[in-house]
Amino acid sequence: MHNSIIDIEKQALESINKADDSDQLEQLSIKYLGRKGVLTGFLRNISSLPVEERPTAGKDANILKGRLEKVFKNAFLKFESVEDNNYTGIDVTLPGRLTQKGSLHPITQVANEICDIFLRLGFDIAESPEVETDYYNFEALNIPKYHPARDMQDTFYVSENIVLRTHTSPSQPRVMEKTNPPVRIISPGKVFRCDSDVTHTPMFNQVEGLMVDKKISFGDLKGILTTFIHQFFDKQTSLRFRPSFFPFTEPSAEVDIRCVMCKGKGCRICSKTGWLEVLGSGMVHPAVFENVGYDTKKYTGFAFGMGIERLAMLKFGIDDIRKFFENDIRFLRQF
Ligand code: DAH
Repeated sequence: MHNSIIDIEKQALESINKADDSDQLEQLSIKYLGRKGVLTGFLRNISSLPVEERPTAGKDANILKGRLEKVFKNAFLKFESVEDNNYTGIDVTLPGRLTQKGSLHPITQVANEICDIFLRLGFDIAESPEVETDYYNFEALNIPKYHPARDMQDTFYVSENIVLRTHTSPSQPRVMEKTNPPVRIISPGKVFRCDSDVTHTPMFNQVEGLMVDKKISFGDLKGILTTFIHQFFDKQTSLRFRPSFFPFTEPSAEVDIRCVMCKGKGCRICSKTGWLEVLGSGMVHPAVFENVGYDTKKYTGFAFGMGIERLAMLKFGIDDIRKFFENDIRFLRQF
């Protein structure tokens, strides 16, 4: 082997052995194998050697290059495992980073709470479509075309016979068509009306309820809804059943509760009446039973429907329904 190649090898191996860490090794690797390194320099200067020495010198230099590459690789591996074990980059005394936790939207929370109360009373949940046919949204509920009751609801029409449901009541005929009594369901979901101000948004949420069996009476309706109001607000909340009209129930009643803000003294929220309307209800109209093929002599039932936003506003003391949909994080964080 060429003399100076032997010298280069000796020096290189010695310094590799003496290296203390991978940084030093890196420097040595550049020194010997780099583009401007010792071996490259030697190869570049081969032309200055006597002609007969040139071939072996070139060959020897390349052999040494390969050998040193291996030595460096092994030396690096050795340092890597040692340095991994001595890694001191983690300060275990630093406070941990808190993970940001999301929370359920207040409307979802209230919907869940309403559903939980009725689930405990033995009701099942039945969902029904948001895009609905004219038949289920109106016709099956005893609201024929040109019936004045259609004006009560500002309907979004998708086409002549398809609407965005204006209430959750279509879940009643949908469920009854598919099941025989006894029926005991609640049906939460989005509803749509072309309406927008402080107390109305084009989309809002309702929960529908329906109970059908032999001998269901208005007394059952009062009992279930009173239990619900007492659980949702508190046991002291008084309520009253006020005669009303809905085409799909007869008799119909709206339920008012004592104003939660002024406790009945009369304030802006209850328009000085001391009472707040919270839901609509009634005994299922025989025409609705006939539409789904139920025997009106055998079965009776009651139904009710309530607005989730309205209940949430009363429960949390919120005066503008639009706050629920603006997604202002400062508002949402309070729940
Ligand atoms: N669907 C009615 C509405 O949106 C609410 C309602 C009233 C539902 C009486 C009922 C009911 O089931 O019996 O205004």
